[in-house]
This record gives sequence, C-alpha cells and structure tokens, in this order.
Amino acid sequence: MPILTDRFGRVHDYLRISVTDRCNLRCLYCMPEEGMAFTESENLLSYDQIAEVVEAGAALGISKLRITGGEPLIRPDLDVLVSRLSAIPGIRDIALTTNGIFLAKQAEALRAAGLNRVNISLDTLDPARFRFIARRGDLKRVMEGIEAAAAVGFDPIKLNCVLLKEVNEDEIAAFLKLAYEHPMHVRFIEYMPIGHADENWKKHYLPLSRVIEVAEQEGYSINRGPNVHGNGPSDDWQMAGARGSFGLIHPISDHFCSSCNRLRLTADGSIKPCLYWVDELNVKDAFGNSEAMQQLLLRAMDIKPENHEMAAKLADGVLSHVPTDRRMSQIGG
Ligand code: GTP
Ligand code: 5AD
Ligand code: SF4
Repeated sequence: MPILTDRFGRVHDYLRISVTDRCNLRCLYCMPEEGMAFTESENLLSYDQIAEVVEAGAALGISKLRITGGEPLIRPDLDVLVSRLSAIPGIRDIALTTNGIFLAKQAEALRAAGLNRVNISLDTLDPARFRFIARRGDLKRVMEGIEAAAAVGFDPIKLNCVLLKEVNEDEIAAFLKLAYEHPMHVRFIEYMPIGHADENWKKHYLPLSRVIEVAEQEGYSINRGPNVHGNGPSDDWQMAGARGSFGLIHPISDHFCSSCNRLRLTADGSIKPCLYWVDELNVKDAFGNSEAMQQLLLRAMDIKPENHEMAAKLADGVLSHVPTDRRMSQIGG
C-alpha cells in the first residue's frame, strides 16, 4: 500500500476534518467577538464529498479521523457522517473535538454511530469567567455535555484547557485537582497566534512550564507518560494515585513538528498540510476520480513544511503575522 510520507520522513495516518467554520461561541483566542464571514452552506463539503476524501486517504494509510469545526455539532445530523466514515475500510478511530454545549443531546446518537472518543473544550470552572472567555454560552451546558459523554461510555474523555495569562492561570491547581479526583484527562494548551499575532495573544500567551511548577507546588508526585489513547501532540503526565491525568500541548515554547502525523481538511474543501502554512490544495476538482484524489493527498506531502519556526521569531518580536490567512475556527485546530 502506498503511504503518505512527507519529504522529512513523517508518516501521516491522521486526518482532521472540519465540518463547519461556524460556532455558537466566540472564544477570545479563536474568533473575533463580532464573528466573521462564514462559508455559505452550499460551499461546504457534503457528507458524501467528505467520505470521498476519507476513502482516498484510507487507501493511503489514513486510519484515524477527528471531526472538528468551528463547532462540529452545529452541522445537522453529524451522527450520519460518523456512521458513514466508520464504515470505510481502514478507518479504526474516529474522534470529535467540541465545545460541549450541544453534546448532552447528541452524545448517545454519536456513540451509537461509531464515534470512539471526544475532546471537550473547558477553559475555566467559573461560570462568569466562561462568559468572559467564550463571550457566549453557559458553562452549565458544557458540564452537562461532559457528564453525558461519560454516561454513554466515551473513554477517554479529554478536556482541552487553553491557558491564558491573567485570565485562567489561577485555575491550574483546580484543573489538576479535577484530573486527580475524576477519570478525566485534562490537556493544557498554549495559546497559539493564528491568522495574526493579535493583541490578545501578546497579552495572554503563557508557556506551559507553569503547569509543572504548580503541580510540584501542590505536592503531586508527577511523571511523564505513557500517552493516553490519542493521535495528537500532547505530552502526557501521570499524578501518583490520580483517577485521571494531564497533558501538555506546547506548540510555541517547544514545537512538536518533527513528529507531525496529520493533515487537515477544511469545511470549504482544502487540504491543509500544516496548521501554520498558507499553502493548501483544493479537493473540489478531484471529486469523482479516486486516483486524482489520492494524487492530491500525495502532493500535500510534497508541500508540507518541516516546521513552523515560530517560537524563535515570536521571541525576537519579529513576527507580527503568522503565515496562514485562516483563523483557528476556519481550520479546526
Ligand atoms: P488526540 O487524538 O486525543 O490526541 O487529539 P488532538 O490533541 O490531536 O486533538 P484536539 O482537537 O483536542 O487538539 C488539541 C490542541 O492541539 C488544539 O489546540 C489543536 O489546535 C492542537 N493541535 C493539534 N494538532 C496540532 C498541530 O499539528 N500543530 C499545532 N500547532 N497544534 C496542534
Ligand atoms: N490556541 C490554542 N488552542 C486553540 N483552540 C482554538 N483556538 C486556539 C488557539 N488560538 C483549541 C480549542 C479546542 C481545539 C480545537 O483548539 O480550545 O479545544
Ligand atoms: Fe468555537 Fe472552538 Fe473557536 Fe471557541 S475555540 S470559538 S468553541 S471554534
């Protein structure tokens, strides 16, 4: 079987699929408060078209999928897409990244359709602060979503916490406690400047070394690894005696590009070989031709950059614009 190997020897088996660029929230690290120009629904890939891209990917060794957004649960009948994708030969793991607001209603149907795992954004445990970060929505609904995900048997459940200086850094200890007491895997994520290194990023970026300091101050006995079931860039840590664990995703202070195994499909039909690179390949001309679709995915391997080299540029203050035109909500993380 031909496999997706890039110029630097990295094998790709993971495809992140954004099904919409719309979201019901406006997290300050992701989307402007006023929203943005969203893709018209007639320009979104249909479920049939997404399946066609996945079939070509599976023929080239893609075995793990993650459905993202915007907020993926906004797209009607997402369970129909999940069951369609889970029937594609070679697909072994399908996961979802969601803000959790609509999860309680859909968890059971998604599980029945063949969804294996969920990662849920949870940046704060404080309802008022939730409104400050997400600008809309209600923390209570997210908590209900997490409970519903556990009740229908998703395992592991990962909670994504983007750490923000002067916003939620005082909650590191509370999140560690949550992971100590509950079978939840909390991942702390460094705030990434995407689209542009905006004022929010300059104000709120916090390196994750802070998490280790707090874990030690709080008296946890911590050790690296083993990694919790997943396909992404998290460095996972154990706390002795804990029911859950925590992970660190540090794209800025210590990037993980050398182990990159993933491609992205945007909701409007582009393959993005790197989150931080402007080059994309439009899949629309390849529909109906599986050979052309496979060739396109192989071409993505040739244009994928070695790494984003942003950390040094950001530290030197020479970077004001990150080389991608899309916002995070238009890529899906
Ligand atoms: P698992 O399969 O559970 O390991 O999931 P994941 O960590 O790959 O997915 P998730 O959508 O939960 O992403 C968590 C964070 O990692 C988000 O902030 C993503 O933007 C970030 N992330 C995932 N892949 C990459 C990557 O290739 N580069 C960068 N810079 N960030 C990434
Ligand atoms: N930096 C880091 N993580 C981000 N996410 C969204 N925008 C950013 C950003 N600028 C996270 C979300 C979600 C995942 C898809 O990516 O919180 O958990
Ligand atoms: Fe929506 Fe996710 Fe972006 Fe927040 S991070 S605005 S939940 S797409």
